[in-house]
Amino acid sequence: MNHSSLRTLLSGGSFQGEVQVPGDKSISHRALLFGAIAEGKTTIEGLLPAEDPLSTAACLKLMGVKVSPIRKGELVEVHGVGLDGLQEPEEILNCGNSGTTMRLMLGLLVGRTNRHFILTGDASLSKRPMKRVSQPLKLMGGQVNGRSNGNFAPLSVKGQKLRGAVIGTPVASAQVKSAIMLAALTAEGVTTVIEPARSRDHSERMLKAFGANIQIGGEMGRHISIVPGSTLQGQKVVVPGDISSAAFWLIAAAIAPGSDITIKNVGINPTRTGILDVMQQMEASFELFNLREIAGEPVGDIHVVQKNQLKPFLLDAEIMPRLIDEVPILAVAACFCKGVSKITGASELRVKETDRLNVMATQLNLMGANIEEHSDGLTIQGNQKLHGCSSLDSQTDHRVAMSLAIASVMANSDSRMNRSDAAAVSYPEFWDDLNRLRLQS
Ligand code: S3P
Repeated sequence: MNHSSLRTLLSGGSFQGEVQVPGDKSISHRALLFGAIAEGKTTIEGLLPAEDPLSTAACLKLMGVKVSPIRKGELVEVHGVGLDGLQEPEEILNCGNSGTTMRLMLGLLVGRTNRHFILTGDASLSKRPMKRVSQPLKLMGGQVNGRSNGNFAPLSVKGQKLRGAVIGTPVASAQVKSAIMLAALTAEGVTTVIEPARSRDHSERMLKAFGANIQIGGEMGRHISIVPGSTLQGQKVVVPGDISSAAFWLIAAAIAPGSDITIKNVGINPTRTGILDVMQQMEASFELFNLREIAGEPVGDIHVVQKNQLKPFLLDAEIMPRLIDEVPILAVAACFCKGVSKITGASELRVKETDRLNVMATQLNLMGANIEEHSDGLTIQGNQKLHGCSSLDSQTDHRVAMSLAIASVMANSDSRMNRSDAAAVSYPEFWDDLNRLRLQS
């Protein structure tokens, strides 16, 4: 995709109305992957029709899985090939910009004996660490090779017979955990993953629904055991709206004077709702209503009204897994809080699609913000008056593009952003929703 698009971002206005954000990216990837290795048909409602899940689907198709076209508002059908039914692809598996695709795919493929797979990605993905996945998979007998001792794509996977293991992961990463869980489904013996802190649990919930034998124990559910031997059965999956996409409107409505927004059908799995805790810390005015559970995931609507000047906030390592993708937009929020906000324990942000600590500090400072960067976080002076900037750049990072778009509305003059199309990685209709929700003052 071409990320060179230069976009003018108008300043001023408030956010008004109702919005339904696209399907959860994490759940969308998992529905495709688990559907692919289930028996029979999986039907997915609300699958995110964006570049990242399309990368997952494209890889699966190259291995003989039939996936119906992924289009907005249409059900997606995946015809499962069973736990060991994936074929050796004739072509390289291209994971695009998607870390979730590459990491979960490694877990899925490492146990496919007598088959060989090559995985690649775009310039950003080829710089992201993969050893965190290839190393534990090696403990199970897996063979993953690549530059820097299996750390960087392109990667080669030679399918091996795997054995269960007890694996402590060094980072609380749902991608690492899920890769191990996928490999464990066909290993010999039980595998237990022990996380330093609990990461999002969509894999646990969905794999259980598909019929996998998964036991969760330990303090805060940090010990996850996978007992192999059960086949997966195709399911009907309903994907809720992505709270990480809702985050842009949550913060926009909390900071832009006169805003009043309702976001419908948002996934509010407690492993993902750190941003709501921070909004409480900031004393933002919001309420959750219409709470329900859909296909094993908690869902609700969220109403946000801009009322008072926000209080500054402190984030540390403990809350980080529950809001890891929301740090860029929270950095924007902090510029408008009354006082100094501090983000610590966030060094993982440096190995996302971009080094998000550096890129957010640099870009917001170009607009007149006062942000100091530390090795594991940011110190942000609030109450800033941002000015427009004609040389903003998403650096190809979708969440940076959308965060800067909200900052630009709050600036006192218009801005221009290069590579704004990056938003399509997780939220293809972001710019249309922005135009519709932003009411000119
Ligand atoms: C994801 C987990 C998180 C998150 C990413 C999606 C997932 O990454 O940042 O956007 O779907 O499992 P880590 O697991 O590396 O923290």
